[in-house]
This record gives sequence, structure tokens and C-alpha cells, in this order.
Amino acid sequence: MTIQLAKPALEHLPSYVDALRRGWSPDNVRLEITTRQHLAAIDADPVAFVESLDDPEAKGAPITLPDGTIVPRLPGYSRFIWDGEVAGSIGLRWQEGTSALPSHVLGHIGYAVVPWKRGRGYATQALALMLGEARARGLDYVEITAQPDNIVSQKVITANGGVLVERFWQDPAYGRVEGLRFRVDL
Ligand SMILES: CC(C)(COP(=O)(O)OP(=O)(O)OC[C@H]1O[C@@H](n2cnc3c(N)ncnc32)[C@H](O)[C@@H]1OP(=O)(O)O)[C@@H](O)C(=O)NCCC(=O)NCCS
Repeated sequence: MTIQLAKPALEHLPSYVDALRRGWSPDNVRLEITTRQHLAAIDADPVAFVESLDDPEAKGAPITLPDGTIVPRLPGYSRFIWDGEVAGSIGLRWQEGTSALPSHVLGHIGYAVVPWKRGRGYATQALALMLGEARARGLDYVEITAQPDNIVSQKVITANGGVLVERFWQDPAYGRVEGLRFRVDL
């Protein structure tokens, strides 16, 4: 089965809401906090919600890191990993004028697949498609970070040409945890 990266639209929301109600989170850091926030936001204003997922000019609200620090939002957007239903999501973010990221940003690309559709190659395909979009946007490389014990995500990255750059301590805003930083030259 092949997947597409779908720009979020109202027609996708019933499937997205279903995945959230089944307990899936599109956010690997804030987990169920984001699940609850997205369900509430869709309930309040579905049009504003789909628009908020596509923000290449960073018009949205600032970002609250896990320790409560508030930082400016980077330009970026999310796409649904779509196989006829929402199978997951993948996001790209960047800084204007440089391929580098601030130290508090854990990578240019993040992704999550719903548990009931894992192991089908969806994340590997989605990352390949998103790397094409990053290249088209003029980035020279992207960084992707993974937890040292997240072997499946590391396979997704290396299958797409990612090379391990370093083991590092994540920004203190995330707690004192180690991460692996991969780089994909574009
Ligand atoms: C990481 C994640 C996105 C992978 O999604 P996926 O669609 O299942 O990944 P793929 O099917 O493309 O599989 C990638 C690789 O992992 C392997 N794999 C998949 N499930 C596995 C499992 N349970 N155990 C071991 N290997 C597994 C696949 O065989 C594939 O390896 P290969 O290229 O050598 O064949 C998904 O597990 C997920 O959403 N996890 C929670 C969120 C997360 O960790 N996101 C990444 C943060 S950096």
C-alpha cells in the first residue's frame, strides 16, 4: 500500500478525530496533552484547526516547551499520512535563511504512525516524501532526532540516508535526557 502526504483539510477530520479518540497522539513529546488539545480545537473551530496545521509563515501562537519555557514558533507545517484514512502525521519546520535549527528544536522533521498501521513501511515512505519537500524548499540538510531506545524510528531515518551525527543531551527544557541526532544531506 502506498501513502500520500495530505495537506490537512476538513474532509480528513472524521478520520483524524477517530485516531485521536482511539488514544493516538501526533506529538511524540507532549503526547496526550496534544491529543486533548486537538480534539478540543476541532470541536471549537474545525476550519481554524486545519488552517493551524499549515503555517509556513509562523503566524501561530508561540510554542510552550515541556518545562513551560515559551519560544517563538518556527515556520512549518504538518501533513497527514494518508492511505484512505489518517494513518499518522509528519511535520517539517525550519528557520528562514539557514538550514540550522535553534538548540531547543528537536529536528526538522517529526512523525508518528497510528499503532494499528505500524510495520507497513508507512513512516519510511512518509519521510522519503517529506525529504523531497524539504529539498524543494531549499534546505541543504535536515536533522532528525530519535531516542536511543527507539530502534524503529532510527531504522526509518537510516533507510532514508540518515547518518548518525552525535549522541547529545537534549535542551534542558526537555529534561535531562539523551538523544541521537541524525543528518540527511539533501
Ligand atoms: C517510529 C514509527 C513512526 C515507525 O512507523 P512505521 O510506519 O511502523 O515504520 P516502518 O513500517 O516504515 O518501519 C521502519 C523499520 O522498522 C522496522 N519495524 C517496524 N516495526 C518494528 C518492530 N515492532 N520491531 C522491530 N522493527 C520494526 C521495519 O521492518 C522497518 O525496518 P526495515 O526498513 O529494515 O524493514 C512508529 O513506530 C511510531 O509512530 N512510533 C511512535 C512515535 C515515534 O516514535 N516517532 C518517531 C520519533 S523520532
